[in-house]
Amino acid sequence: MGKRTLDFQNKTFWLLCWAILLNGVGVYAQNKLTYYQDVKPIIDEYCTGCHRTGQSAPFPLTSYEDVRKRASFISMVVETRYMPPWHADTSFGSFLHARVLSAQQITTIMDWAANGALRGEPTNTTETKALEEWPQPDMVLKLQKPFQIPGDNTEQYRIFALPTGSDKDLYLRGVGFMPDNKPYVHHSRLMLDTTHLVRPFDGTSVGESMEVLDSMNIPLYNAFWQGWVPGNYPLFYPEGVGKMLPKNTDIVINMHYAPSAKPEQDQSEVHLYFAKNKPRRLVETFVLDESWIVNGPFEIPPDTVITFYLRSPVVPMSLSLVSVLPHMHLLGTKFRCFAITTDGDMIPLINIPEWDFNWQQSYQFANLVKLPAGSVIYAEATFDNTRNNPRNPYFPPKTVKYGWGTKDEMMELIFEFLMYEPGDEYLDFYGLEAKREASKSGGQDRK
Ligand code: HEC
Repeated sequence: MGKRTLDFQNKTFWLLCWAILLNGVGVYAQNKLTYYQDVKPIIDEYCTGCHRTGQSAPFPLTSYEDVRKRASFISMVVETRYMPPWHADTSFGSFLHARVLSAQQITTIMDWAANGALRGEPTNTTETKALEEWPQPDMVLKLQKPFQIPGDNTEQYRIFALPTGSDKDLYLRGVGFMPDNKPYVHHSRLMLDTTHLVRPFDGTSVGESMEVLDSMNIPLYNAFWQGWVPGNYPLFYPEGVGKMLPKNTDIVINMHYAPSAKPEQDQSEVHLYFAKNKPRRLVETFVLDESWIVNGPFEIPPDTVITFYLRSPVVPMSLSLVSVLPHMHLLGTKFRCFAITTDGDMIPLINIPEWDFNWQQSYQFANLVKLPAGSVIYAEATFDNTRNNPRNPYFPPKTVKYGWGTKDEMMELIFEFLMYEPGDEYLDFYGLEAKREASKSGGQDRK
């Protein structure tokens, strides 16, 4: 017998194709996609965290009507991956709570929208995901007085100092930021100040105050302690792991408020969760800032697109990386970071192919990433200071340099880490595998 190849002239072949196609359509017609059966589970998992009353997104997606009347718009934002917001490349590192729809989920939403956005019947397994199940914090720190957001349609960048007033070191199993005026609290960044020198700047604008603070050379104990953007939940470390908050520390909040047309008020909170026992392992932070750039000075001339390269010092001992937070301002367009080991192996850390100033967040690695002693971390960040960058704060463009103001630039990377212990890279650090197993067997048990 000769080779069996597909013969496109062959009638049987075409008949077969038709049969498959018709059969496919038949099956499809019988299984029309509905909101309750097919779409709601996806929306609940990926959208309603923000798209619900009182949260940051402009409208809720919690009822059939909410979703139906925007069906084609929703199709479009999921197809283009504009929503849900998630900017890290998931083929370059694996992250906790990655908000990425599968191709299948996108197709489901699009097909549902294109075929009449049918309702279907509710079942008890499709209840709206429980609202924030945040446990009770052990200590709540509020802005010392409510901040008055002026109703003049301007963005506000403000500094607040929240004294913990604790006379002993605090050991934490978790930290959460709880926005008060959710539609207007755009993002926040927490820092630690053991000097109390930031206190007099409480409520002042970030640009001015940080310039003064920079010039005073205030040693912020942790220049970036934790970042928050809408949709971020408090993060809890497993038993035996925690963060230390030195005694008498002030938590400094660098807050961005969205513009408002009428006066608003905000008194956001930081929630601290104490560890039962002093953690055996402490999560610490290191920052790679502009001083490690190898092709400086860090200056972005007008009408140019420029990439800066950063090279860290040699990592002296093996570390287990917990999270990475890349930071730039409005001119940033791309950020990529990896490490090279002494064997020449590349360890992917983070790749953000389309930087979005609005969605800066700390990316938690799904598993601890081992950074062997002797490794070097490299980062490259691209800045677009041309007129083609719609976010460019200056028109015409002008030279932009380092600074805390949003119209200045930064190129920083903040890592959280633990001292490496053998086997760390194989740990089910957040108990994700365990949870997956439990839900599998839970599913089987259900009648
Ligand atoms: C982390 C918070 C968050 C999540 C999760 C989220 N959204 Fe949004 N969404 C927003 C915010 C904030 C806006 C308004 C600002 C903007 O358009 O970027 C928005 C805007 C939108 C818009 C209007 C876009 C426009 O151009 O006006 C649609 C439609 C939308 N979201 C649908 C979805 C869908 C569908 C999902 C889930 C698949 C989702 N969103 C998940 C925060 C979120």
